[in-house]
Amino acid sequence: MEGGWLAGGRLLLCLTVHLLLQGRGDTFTINCSGFDQHGVDPAAFQAVFDRKAFRPVINYSLPTQVNISFTLSAILEVDAQLQLLTSFLWINMMWDNPFISWNPEECVNINKLTIAAENLWIPDIIISESMTVDKTPPGLTAYVSSEGRIQYNKPGRVTSICNLDIFYFPFDQQNCTVTFSSFLHTVDSLVLGMDKEVWEITDTSRDVIQTQGEWELQGINMATPTMSVGSHTYDQIIFYVAIRRRPRLYVINLLVPSSFLVAIDALSFYLPAENENRAPFKITLLLGYNVFLLMMNDLLPASGTPLISVYFALCLSMMVLSLLETIFITYLLHLATTQPPPMPRWLHSLLLHGTRATRCCPTVPQKGTKGLDLTPAHLPGLKEPVELVGTVPDPREAELRGCSGSTVARLVGLWVQFSHMMDTLLFRLYLLFMAAFVITVIVLWNT
Ligand SMILES: *[C@@H]1O[C@H](CO)[C@@H](O)[C@H](O)[C@H]1NC(C)=O
Ligand SMILES: *[C@@H]1O[C@H](CO)[C@@H](O)[C@H](O)[C@H]1NC(C)=O
Ligand SMILES: *[C@@H]1O[C@H](CO)[C@@H](O)[C@H](O)[C@H]1NC(C)=O
Ligand SMILES: *[C@@H]1O[C@H](CO)[C@@H](O)[C@H](O)[C@H]1NC(C)=O
Repeated sequence: MEGGWLAGGRLLLCLTVHLLLQGRGDTFTINCSGFDQHGVDPAAFQAVFDRKAFRPVINYSLPTQVNISFTLSAILEVDAQLQLLTSFLWINMMWDNPFISWNPEECVNINKLTIAAENLWIPDIIISESMTVDKTPPGLTAYVSSEGRIQYNKPGRVTSICNLDIFYFPFDQQNCTVTFSSFLHTVDSLVLGMDKEVWEITDTSRDVIQTQGEWELQGINMATPTMSVGSHTYDQIIFYVAIRRRPRLYVINLLVPSSFLVAIDALSFYLPAENENRAPFKITLLLGYNVFLLMMNDLLPASGTPLISVYFALCLSMMVLSLLETIFITYLLHLATTQPPPMPRWLHSLLLHGTRATRCCPTVPQKGTKGLDLTPAHLPGLKEPVELVGTVPDPREAELRGCSGSTVARLVGLWVQFSHMMDTLLFRLYLLFMAAFVITVIVLWNT
């Protein structure tokens, strides 16, 4: 009984559709009589709903145009190890359904209706880079206009694969692609388009992004190449999403402390070489730097070799080198003040050449030291090892006496002078090398 009634209803419906088809040619006008009393009549849309399994076109050789745009509402995570970008997108799609149309004047001035999306044909647009299955929330609705234009928006957390290059960390920019294409339909049946300019997408995204996190949206570009797989050609729209890291956290936590430690290491060359505090001081700095590196390791990207790691390694090497230099100079001074070896002739003449002023004018040793480019800081410390050793005369005194004739004392003086010269020379080399390396790193980071 009931089945018969249903069959009858369906027959009637088919008849109506048939009549509509015949009477109005290609237009499928929805009959909205009764909308003013009972609201929207589901039966009026039944013919449309029944067709949802098929692509809504009248002539199957014409493709459906789907206009796509999106709003990037958050950049949630950038995983350099897995090379993944997790973002939140609101995807808008628009297409025409020629089986829907009504006359708003006849239909109590309804221009737009929302219809549960499950009753309509939805294009199978996917994001090619997405590494997770589409988790579209259920129960979405779509706007349907009186001309049959359907607007369907869906939110989505998209984890997409992105070729991340962390070499310039923390001053890096990434250029990730988000490609929209149909999963099944080739260009013969579905073409993609855009009704918005790409700068509008960028502007809306900038306005909408709430997160003040690590990443900042820089810009969005697009390209529309078609993709050929075998004999099939698929339409696609590629958006290039350029994002930039906000480096402040890393500058404050990584670069500033490390630069301070290296600067202190460089300044510690001004501690007199004879002072026994220089080497322990440098060792302490080295230890401090190691602790710093251990603690800050979590902030560095887990994979790849960013420039900043090279920078840290070089800073550490500089500190080790400066410690080695201190050990060398201390050894040289110790040797000079306890048992000065005979001085090679060339070195002797070199030193004499460099200190001619000192030798000939013993009353103005200051001038001589200046000629040697000795830092004045080196001079006061001279006393210490002398007191320690006891038997060895004050080098300056030795120098003075050198003019008058004591050979051993003169030799000690020359060796001490040589040590200080070496110290200054190595310190300058150290500064030169450090400047070159810091400038290189800065230039690399700026490109
Ligand atoms: C619309 O449907 C009503 C009944 O529901 C019918 O009386 C009327 O003739 C129909 N109008 C058209 C244009 O088909
Ligand atoms: C369908 O579209 C094609 C291409 O525009 C055209 O050649 C063909 O005549 C159309 N068929 C009908 C039935 O309108
Ligand atoms: C898609 O956008 C184009 C403009 O780029 C417009 O002409 C066309 O009507 C739009 N189609 C849909 C279905 O929105
Ligand atoms: C991202 O890469 C694409 C292709 O390599 C390029 O066309 C686009 O300009 C890049 N975008 C930015 C902001 O660098």
